[in-house]
Amino acid sequence: MRGRISRTARYALENPSAIREIMTVVTDYKLHPEKYPRKLLYLGGGWPQDPAPEVVREEFLKLGGDKELFREACRYGPTRGEPEFMESVTVYEREIFGRKVATEEVIVGLGSTELTAAFMLATLDSGSEVILTRPGYLNYERQILVETLMSAKIKRWDIIKDREFAPNTDELQDLITSDTRLIILTAPGNPDGQIFSEETLEAVSDIAEDKGVWVMVDVAYRAFCFEKEPKYYSRPRRENEIWMCSLSKELRILGWRLAYALADPELINAVVTVEQARTLCPSRPAQMIVSRIIGDKDKLKVIKDFYDRGKKRYAEVGLKTYNALKEEIPNIYPLKPMGGFYVFFDASNYSPSSRKVCNDLLNKWQVALAPGLDFGMEGWIRLSFAPVIETPEVVFEAIQRMKEYFKSLK
Ligand SMILES: Cc1ncc(COP(=O)(O)O)c(C=O)c1O
Repeated sequence: MRGRISRTARYALENPSAIREIMTVVTDYKLHPEKYPRKLLYLGGGWPQDPAPEVVREEFLKLGGDKELFREACRYGPTRGEPEFMESVTVYEREIFGRKVATEEVIVGLGSTELTAAFMLATLDSGSEVILTRPGYLNYERQILVETLMSAKIKRWDIIKDREFAPNTDELQDLITSDTRLIILTAPGNPDGQIFSEETLEAVSDIAEDKGVWVMVDVAYRAFCFEKEPKYYSRPRRENEIWMCSLSKELRILGWRLAYALADPELINAVVTVEQARTLCPSRPAQMIVSRIIGDKDKLKVIKDFYDRGKKRYAEVGLKTYNALKEEIPNIYPLKPMGGFYVFFDASNYSPSSRKVCNDLLNKWQVALAPGLDFGMEGWIRLSFAPVIETPEVVFEAIQRMKEYFKSLK
């Protein structure tokens, strides 16, 4: 290589996520399954196995089948999002989640990962502090460092104590300084599957308003609450809140890259300016297709029913997974999931290194899980049941292999 690479890229190269290492083995397994003694059981990533509802495919085909529509979809659109799609977001929020939203509060992005990065660029300076939860979604730390060229500081709010979900907002308050700009929460959580209570979320929002800090609530898994949804999904947005709403998981269109955020209109204007330099515009075909679904009452009803059925299915498999882990493997203390795709458990009684446990399970037992180290909690392990939601027997086979493995460690 003749040119030089940046300090940020060097950091990223030198600190690969453990999940990336797992993916290397998974890819190798796909190419050379004969090298492995057993079938690989993949419970590593957060990708749902069940497909998007048929109406999504039908509208996709309609867009491709109509010459005019297709041509329109090929053009650039407005940076902030298609007016028609932003209008659809207000309908979707109202009809699916019961939230009243104004179009001024909406901005569309190429998936929530990209949109979150734009919010980071619009809110953080060199030396700014961001508070993340521990455990927390693994990409945030990397994203903050990459987007701020390693100049922002990350602090962690511990939300698990003695193997229980116990967020204490006084402790959050103590982390805030005059440099704090942003707090990021996820509900339901990745990797923990926990949902903040109404009291906790309101207390966080009070603190954010009082201290002049933004609080981003990532609700990528809000359509997968196992019990009644918290009221904060449906009440109006509070002043300092940014609701990050990904359609990837809920509509099962992960590769389309479509998400929107609800935020303060002035902040949105700042984000739009940032996006003009980064993306030009979000995906037009994706917005057109989803607008057409939301704009049709019957199709929207299909989506609502799909979410209701999906939620029950994920709750059933999630809770069975939790029970099986608890009953089959002693001393791993899984957290009972309240929503989402994951069961998170503490394997530190067996090994202090979550990376070692995951590597052993992958290489010796062909079970792919994600190490807690990547989520800020060493010793813990994340099991994702989403990739086998239609074939849940795979989870129970994996748990039998895990049982054998953990037995061999004792
Ligand atoms: C909590 C959380 N937020 C965001 C994302 C990424 O979503 P998107 O596809 O909208 O970029 C993920 C993906 O796993 C996630 O777990």
